[in-house]
Amino acid sequence: MDPVRNPFCPGAGTPPPELAGRDAVRETVRIAVERLRIGNPTKSVLMVGLRGVGKTVLLDQMRNDAEASGLHTVRVEAPEGRSLPALLAPQIRLALLRLSRVQRAKSVAQRALRGLAGFAKALKVRYSDIEVGLDLEPEPGLADNGDLELDLGALFEEIGKAAKAGGTALVIFIDELQYVEEDELAALISSLHRCTQQKLPIGVVGAGLPQLRGQAGNAKSYAERLFEYPEIGPLSRDDARLALVKPAQAQGVGFTDDSVEKIISHTKGYPYFLQEWGKHAWDVADASPITATDVRRASSEAIGALDESFFRVRFDRLTPLQKRYLRAMAELGPGPHRSGDISEALGRKVTALAPVRNELIGKGMIWSPSHGDTAFTVPLFDEFMKRIIPDDTWKQG
Ligand SMILES: Nc1ncnc2c1ncn2[C@@H]1O[C@H](COP(=O)(O)OP(=O)(O)OP(=O)(O)O)[C@@H](O)[C@H]1O
Ligand SMILES: [Mg+2]
Repeated sequence: MDPVRNPFCPGAGTPPPELAGRDAVRETVRIAVERLRIGNPTKSVLMVGLRGVGKTVLLDQMRNDAEASGLHTVRVEAPEGRSLPALLAPQIRLALLRLSRVQRAKSVAQRALRGLAGFAKALKVRYSDIEVGLDLEPEPGLADNGDLELDLGALFEEIGKAAKAGGTALVIFIDELQYVEEDELAALISSLHRCTQQKLPIGVVGAGLPQLRGQAGNAKSYAERLFEYPEIGPLSRDDARLALVKPAQAQGVGFTDDSVEKIISHTKGYPYFLQEWGKHAWDVADASPITATDVRRASSEAIGALDESFFRVRFDRLTPLQKRYLRAMAELGPGPHRSGDISEALGRKVTALAPVRNELIGKGMIWSPSHGDTAFTVPLFDEFMKRIIPDDTWKQG
């Protein structure tokens, strides 16, 4: 059918035509930020889930929801290798400039801008990647000690006061939070804690891989009490059906029941894969409704497209030994696997492979659901590893 009208859209952070199955978590966040606005105690929210389950699009949607109800927001993504203060500073500046246009908040927001100037200046030595426009002169003693935890806390406090004066809340949306260094995560958590204790309306909605929960707990033991951790997973059968059927229906196109069943069984309800199968099934079908035969014909193209993009970009970032480690995991099945079993498959000692395991965790390829266990962060990555390294070459090395 006409590819121009194809509604499905596999892609990192690409909003889906139907954001299926996420109403409950959107409501959790709506309640949290509305409570924040009126000064009621509330927990910040860290969404955790595997690659491609839809964390980024959800975060963006929640940000739109918050903006639509008159809250102030900032949005950052933590890439590997940039510091959190450098990411936050320019966004916080913009938020404060917006707040300072609210008459009631003006003077408090300006004080916060002075705080930001001191913050950036004092931390520039340690975090040389901080680049932020300075609108006002720093106020000596305000957020300028040169200690991230202290200064971020002081800055958050000033921002919180400005938001409160403006009768609003500031919600900071942070994607890929698992890449933030432990001391920076600790500073973020303690700054939030400081504001919570004073009932200041500043909150965080974050998203990251499943290891984020443990990382937050390691950074600050009280993180468990400060955050809710909704798990973002594959869609239920009904929601997966909705994600396929509704966007097609809007274009006057149907899916037969068995075609939907087939797609659900291939994709296991993972959003990225649903978009990929939906897209290719649409493209190969000659007419509505899309049938199980269309899905069969589309499957090899959907897998090919995933191999070339979703899986490939991750594979290409790996060293030869990291590839062998993941291939050994794949040999054992979808997982999770005991570290000992993986080492055994490679004929090496667990201790000898500990560094490569740590590197893979750092790259966000694997995580540890419980002590000594190792699991993929990318759904169906085991099958991909077997496709890309089909023979036994990984055993020698
Ligand atoms: N609830 C949903 N219903 C249907 N499709 C969805 C849903 N959520 C996300 N998608 C689709 O899944 C794909 C992946 O979404 P997104 O990039 O937000 O995932 P992610 O969890 O952020 O992945 P990563 O961990 O790789 O950053 C996109 O093509 C998006 O349109
Ligand atoms: Mg994402």
